[in-house]
Amino acid sequence: MNRQKAFGQGNPELAAYTENLFQPVDALLAQFQERARAAGLPEIQVGPMDGRHLEILTRLLKPKRIVEIGTLAGVSGLCFLRGMESLESGESGALYTFEKNELHAKIARTNLEHARDVENFRASFEIFSGPALENLTKIEAHGPFDLVFIDADKPNYPNYFDWAVKNLRVGGAIVGDNTFAWGEVHLVESKSGNDRLMVGSLHEFNRRVSAHPKLRGTILPTAEGLTVAVKIRD
Ligand SMILES: C[S@@+](CC[C@H](N)C(=O)[O-])C[C@H]1O[C@@H](n2cnc3c(N)ncnc32)[C@H](O)[C@@H]1O
Repeated sequence: MNRQKAFGQGNPELAAYTENLFQPVDALLAQFQERARAAGLPEIQVGPMDGRHLEILTRLLKPKRIVEIGTLAGVSGLCFLRGMESLESGESGALYTFEKNELHAKIARTNLEHARDVENFRASFEIFSGPALENLTKIEAHGPFDLVFIDADKPNYPNYFDWAVKNLRVGGAIVGDNTFAWGEVHLVESKSGNDRLMVGSLHEFNRRVSAHPKLRGTILPTAEGLTVAVKIRD
């Protein structure tokens, strides 16, 4: 499967044009990446423009409580924390982020604490180390949530969807990354083995989003596919 993070309708010139113009990787994000690389973390964070999309969505939606499933080194987390700067002064934002791998969680904590020192952002963050499905129940009392971002193990996307739809406020959003399944989400029937599980789970996530009576959804055609849905009724 082609797992590149190109942007711009598969046209590298449009991708270069956009990234040159918008400069989505600043010094702090570059430091996040350097620290992650030095610790041997996989380079599977959101693409540079997708990180910018998340910050822009956050600034538009003005969520006070964000749940992120799949922290890695904190790149997308920083985008959410920056986006929550759009909250009115006096309003406090919180990011609850879930990461199974202890080393990833440790690097993310170092990165995000450093970012907080540099940028002095107002929102708080809490990193939960361990399998997300075992830990999500711990935050339910803080809900309902305004935004749930799903970017972790693909076989659990349908389970994360079920949790998200139950714990989202009306007007809140579910956002799922990689939902084109590396350009193969429409080819589930031709897949077998692990590919079938990965692609099939992403398709099932999209299917549940599209069919749910309480949601209105779409897939934004980023390189990876970014499913976005709003809860429209209780
Ligand atoms: C694609 S990366 C997340 C990238 C991150 N959102 C970003 O863009 O900066 C997926 C992460 O999910 C974590 N993960 C995998 N299975 C998980 C699980 N069951 N619960 C929580 N995290 C999990 C992986 O260890 C990995 O760090």
